[in-house]
Amino acid sequence: MTAKTIDGKAAAAELRKRVAKQVSELRANYDVQPGLAAILVGDDPASQVYIRNKERQTEEVGMASVGRRLPAETSEGALLSIIEELNHDPTVHGILVQLPLPKQIKSEAVISAISAEKDVDGFHPMNVAALSNGKDGLVPCTPMGCTMLLKDQIGDLTGMEALVIGRSNIVGKPMAQLLLAENCTVTIAHSRTRDLDQKCRNADIVVAAVGIPKLVKGDWIKPGATLIDVGINRVSKNDGSTTYRLVGDIDYEEAVQAAGAITPVPGGVGPMTIACLLQNTVAACKRQTILRD
Ligand code: GUN
Repeated sequence: MTAKTIDGKAAAAELRKRVAKQVSELRANYDVQPGLAAILVGDDPASQVYIRNKERQTEEVGMASVGRRLPAETSEGALLSIIEELNHDPTVHGILVQLPLPKQIKSEAVISAISAEKDVDGFHPMNVAALSNGKDGLVPCTPMGCTMLLKDQIGDLTGMEALVIGRSNIVGKPMAQLLLAENCTVTIAHSRTRDLDQKCRNADIVVAAVGIPKLVKGDWIKPGATLIDVGINRVSKNDGSTTYRLVGDIDYEEAVQAAGAITPVPGGVGPMTIACLLQNTVAACKRQTILRD
């Protein structure tokens, strides 16, 4: 049987519609327009594309977009001053600093300097602690999008065996926390895990976020499992040209034969990440304005 392809583009478009509705309600009922500030330091081409997409979609849902482009040689102190200014700006409800940062700037210092209630990436230590303690906070966007796709596909995740491959602070660790909160039995694997194939064969859910092209093979998949591929790996086309194609961490052509459902790369998790960022910005705006005591 061939797996169902999970359409992340369609799910993200639906979520953006829900965000746009919340934005127009906030504007009509409370005279508040949610605002998102996106800061890019340097000129990394991939980061420039991400930031442009974030800014365009922010405006498309009716929010205010504040873009800050800073030169690659910007000092940590200069970036911290801009963050401080945005922390106190009442028209800005969400602040995002695109990672990675140039090497003279410590990303930990930058993330901690963002006000936790404006940290729409969910990377601030207070938001990390909230997620781990099961308290309300802002949740990292990619794992949030993966969880939405899983719940759309499966419904209640209680009791399912979930394997997360990857242990990054941005995806793997928060993903595992979110699946625990959904009552899954969670295993965290990574590039050094032994017998990964066996762990995979036991999993009802696999979330692959390890950055190794086509690591997960078709004969590792439990029949009917749901597979979420966060990997975006550029590999050469091997046709003599200098162009690249994108592949995930799961061998899609093989896995699609065994799985129940699978996200494609591209068009799976990717579009959900920005839609979740917009949802976090609306949530942050509500907490800073109408829900404030
Ligand atoms: N770089 C890669 N992914 C992300 C993300 O989710 N947020 C930020 N700020 N930078 C990133």
